[in-house]
Amino acid sequence: MTSRHGDLVGRRQELADLRSTLGSARLVTLTGPGGIGKTTLARAAAADHGRARREETWVLDLADLVDADLLGHSVAGVIGVQARGASADEVAAAVADRAGLLVLDGCEAMLDAAVSLVAALLAAAPRLRVLATSHQQLGVTGEVVVPVGPLPAEDAQALFATRAATALPSFRLTDDNAVAIARLCEALDGVPLAVELAAARILVLSPQGILERLDDRQRLLVKGARDAPARQRSLRASLEASHELCTPDEQLLWARLSVFTGGFPLEAAEEVCAGDGLDAGDVLDLVDGLLDKSVLTREDDGASYVRFRMLDSLREYARETLTEDQVQAARARHLAWYADLVGTAAAGFFGPGQATSYRTLRREHANLREALRYAVADPRHAAQALEIVAALEPWWAVTGRVSEARHWLARACDAADARPDTRVRALALAGWTATLQGDPDAGRSLLEKADAVVAEHPVDDATRGRLLVARSLEASWRGAPDEALVSLEQAVAAAHASGDRMLEVTAVLVLGLSHAFVGDLDRAGVTLQACVDLTEPVGEVHVRSYALSALGMLALLRADADTAADLERRALVMSAELGDRSATAFVLEVLAWVAAAERRTERAATLLGAADAHWRHLGVDPDAVPYLSANRRLSEERAGIDRGTPAFRTAFARGAALPEDEVLALALDRTVEATTPAEEQVPLTRRELEVAQLVGRGLSNREVAEELFISQRTVETHVDNILRKLGFGSRTQVAAWVVELAARRP
Ligand SMILES: Nc1ncnc2c1ncn2[C@@H]1O[C@H](COP(=O)(O)OP(=O)(O)O)[C@@H](O)[C@H]1O
Ligand SMILES: [Mg+2]
Repeated sequence: MTSRHGDLVGRRQELADLRSTLGSARLVTLTGPGGIGKTTLARAAAADHGRARREETWVLDLADLVDADLLGHSVAGVIGVQARGASADEVAAAVADRAGLLVLDGCEAMLDAAVSLVAALLAAAPRLRVLATSHQQLGVTGEVVVPVGPLPAEDAQALFATRAATALPSFRLTDDNAVAIARLCEALDGVPLAVELAAARILVLSPQGILERLDDRQRLLVKGARDAPARQRSLRASLEASHELCTPDEQLLWARLSVFTGGFPLEAAEEVCAGDGLDAGDVLDLVDGLLDKSVLTREDDGASYVRFRMLDSLREYARETLTEDQVQAARARHLAWYADLVGTAAAGFFGPGQATSYRTLRREHANLREALRYAVADPRHAAQALEIVAALEPWWAVTGRVSEARHWLARACDAADARPDTRVRALALAGWTATLQGDPDAGRSLLEKADAVVAEHPVDDATRGRLLVARSLEASWRGAPDEALVSLEQAVAAAHASGDRMLEVTAVLVLGLSHAFVGDLDRAGVTLQACVDLTEPVGEVHVRSYALSALGMLALLRADADTAADLERRALVMSAELGDRSATAFVLEVLAWVAAAERRTERAATLLGAADAHWRHLGVDPDAVPYLSANRRLSEERAGIDRGTPAFRTAFARGAALPEDEVLALALDRTVEATTPAEEQVPLTRRELEVAQLVGRGLSNREVAEELFISQRTVETHVDNILRKLGFGSRTQVAAWVVELAARRP
């Protein structure tokens, strides 16, 4: 995404300079006040750097992180490495051998954390560069500070003209209005956000009228804050002029909307912001008014959702107009709404709406964090935080956010007034995640705490079932698989009695896996098939993808490589649809063993590398996963694979570095371009196919743009072409087509 409206205006010289600066310096910080264009320039520079140097680039928006303690996890997550912990040194150690450009956008949101992390990264990872944006410089040794200036007159006027024409299609730059526009841009000091806001006023005022009102504002401001830098004053004046043009209700809504982080859907605004002077039924019209004034921008995927966003500078401005009490009230409603959203989503996990629920949560992730941060900080809400985190259990796993789940659990677990059920459920989840991340001692002590609660208070069947599943995992990791089996038999019974179907199928799945772990392949097969039979009719895909993949593994153990490969591919299409990296890791692993059995050594090594990268991305050490590592060794031995050879190491490294779509193509045993048979030639260009695949994974245009480093407008064009070429009317059809295409190609 180059800007929130489309393509970059001007900044050619800056881009050229940045290209060469980024060639030599390892830390470049773009500084300047809000609204000057740092984010826009940083993203364009990163895209340019990625193209020019063919280097990986990763972008992290620090405003979306909400909590400085999540910075370490998030950086490790975005780069895709396993860190032992979230401290700067641990994260730095984990990325030591990575090469690429990391963009940390908006460091002012958590300056201290950013400074220590960047310093540690630069010291530990010689091939890593950082491009930061911040109000001030970071002050780290070796930093090259590049102040971002305003747009020169010509570019500012061009920006005004394009934005005005977007707001009002009949708008033209003419001899009549050119002078007023030039003076306006000058009065705004070329601050892009101020220019955009002014351009939006074209709906109600002429350029001359916009200028006059702005002049009045600026005179007032100069009297008020003489020492504020001119550019900040210009933006302030423009903000105030926009604010003044809003109706009182719009002003109120604008202020209340500032509790959202990372955008919001309309329904959330209606619930969170209405009341106390605002009618829920009016919110739609008010949002429309704020869109007209460029206070909000719209984001959608053309079919299944619409959301709105507000830039940080606008949020901060609006926040100031709320009293502390009003902020608290808005945050409490925000928390209540997101708690509800999570409850509804969780109720839909077991069924055909699963993938949609997961996607909705993904889009609302920044708001979930905001709600959790508020809840864990207040003892009155800490129990609710636990409920939210616990309800999201499968979602944390599917998105590979296990570290983040642990983060929130650690903060909320001691909430004194949580119900025993909630407490036990949270402790069980905490124990499970700790074990999974190779911290069995912590896992055991958390589960003991849970046992202690259960000893004093009876808990319901669902809670007991969860604790038993967690305990079985801990037992497996400890090397006591028989103990695990006993817990799981009980877990399945408790889950069945509870009526929580998602829990039940999860317990059945883990039971099936555990039978396999102890070598009872027949029971494993029957149990896993039962899991498929329970999930398939309701359209559940998350648990089913694991069950299919495990059945594939069993087929391979019975020397039926064809069936194995077939099952793995079916599983892979599902896990790819959900964006489930851990299921994908499992599939890649088994496909590697299939390749080894077929004596396709290079393919095996490449897939092992890809699987390894997926495990580490999740914070899981693949060698520590019981059974998996034993089977991997066995299949390597049988195929005569030697990890020490240069050929193995090269292929392994290649697999570890492959981008996700190429991993999928490889795993499905085809390459995107080359192997399409002529008769089913796909009518899309390679780029369109790429876009279609991302659309198929549920990404919005904006997310696709970010993923591919192209502008949102370009993505829109691609999507239009895809729909037209395939004769489809919706993105859902594209998604179905992508899945079918994957299945059709042998
Ligand atoms: N060079 C540019 N071309 C087009 N739009 C721009 C440009 N620079 C900034 N903008 C727009 O101005 C607004 C503020 O820019 P942003 O990059 O978010 O500023 P910052 O990160 O410094 O706060 C955004 O809406 C952005 O789209
Ligand atoms: Mg910014």
